[in-house]
Amino acid sequence: MDVFGLVGNPVGHSLSPPMHEVAYDALEIDARYVTFEPAPDDLETALEGAAALGIAGLNVTIPFKEDALASDLVAADELANRIGAVNTIDFSGDRPTGHNTDAAGALRALRERDVTVDGARAVVVGAGGAGRAISFGLADAGATVSIANRTEAKAHDLADEVPGATGHGLETLEDLLADAEILVNATSVGMEEDATPVPAEALHGGLAVLDAVYRPLETRLLSDAAAAGATTVDGARMLLYQGVEAFELWTGRDAPVSTMDEALRARL
Ligand code: ATR
Repeated sequence: MDVFGLVGNPVGHSLSPPMHEVAYDALEIDARYVTFEPAPDDLETALEGAAALGIAGLNVTIPFKEDALASDLVAADELANRIGAVNTIDFSGDRPTGHNTDAAGALRALRERDVTVDGARAVVVGAGGAGRAISFGLADAGATVSIANRTEAKAHDLADEVPGATGHGLETLEDLLADAEILVNATSVGMEEDATPVPAEALHGGLAVLDAVYRPLETRLLSDAAAAGATTVDGARMLLYQGVEAFELWTGRDAPVSTMDEALRARL
């Protein structure tokens, strides 16, 4: 039996175990997915233990994604290095490898709705961990990325690293969105609250709007976007596809996407 898992602190409410375990069941893979909650300073010891115990793969979440990148044990790939965070570790080779599936997750969530990313003008609101991953993903896929953040200096710093990107304050959102095709909310605004980081007047029917927030599923931003005639993609799709990407990396098989989606949505 293969053991996969999630390392974070806290991990109690994670949706990853049911999402992965239904996939093992569906494909008759003999595996389990469990959660681990090391103390904040103990990631390296935990990873050494995982390798010694023969754990097959780990997802990594807050507060350990940056530590996983810095780990001496893990060889992080180029994208994870640029993003500055590892969220998936594969222990199957001679040395554990580190990856970041958040960027690919966002791209798959957009592409399944027939959103063209190559050549698109994309606005990413937020310059934290999620904003970093999504901005690199969009730029790598050929979009021209404008990053808008409450703390404008952080948007400029990130834009300096992302090919072709520009950094802005939130007050320019309306101008940026006027001729954009993609909008991503990578802030925590709207999480467990009826608030939006984007004025409803700035939204229009030519936009595809992805909200990385998934609690609630229907955020104020997404309902405003739907009212404006935009294509909407909720945060559960991004969460789903970062898990799908990890599953496919670990198992080398196509993930049973709709089964995983059902397991996720049933718990949201
Ligand atoms: P994550 O890893 O989920 O991206 P994070 O790194 O803490 O979390 O980043 C949170 C993001 O949400 C940041 O871009 C933050 O803006 P600041 O850099 O100015 O802090 C943004 N954010 C959080 N609360 C916000 C609010 N009330 N209004 C606007 N932006 C907010």
